[in-house]
Amino acid sequence: MIDAPLDHVAIVVRDLEATLELYTQTLGFSPVYREIVADQGVEAAGVRSGDAVIELLRPLCEDSPIARFRGDAATRLHHTAYRVDDIRAELARLKAAGVRLIDEEPRRGAHGNTVAFLHPKSTGGVLIELCQRSSPR
Ligand code: CO
Repeated sequence: MIDAPLDHVAIVVRDLEATLELYTQTLGFSPVYREIVADQGVEAAGVRSGDAVIELLRPLCEDSPIARFRGDAATRLHHTAYRVDDIRAELARLKAAGVRLIDEEPRRGAHGNTVAFLHPKSTGGVLIELCQRSSPR
């Protein structure tokens, strides 16, 4: 876990088109993927600059926890995601270490990845995602 590279930083947004335009047209990021992640109730769009991947999340429903988290803001930092080789082993290790898990079982994330979230109450207030890649990016 300590050695895990940062996979992406996710930002929940109100206006996906406007935020995508900001990141690609103005800031110079390249679009990588864009898809509905039904499991998480969002449309996710990944953009990359160098090694940095930012994932923009648009809630599919404005009456959802992630939309309430963003509130009236145009955007809000939502989570940091770290890449692991064996997500089940890492979840078991963290659970044994007393970390509260949101996902006891890994689930499908954006870009074909398998993901699981740790509870922010156990991570100093920042939502952390573990992310196991299934395809090279
Ligand atoms: Co993520």
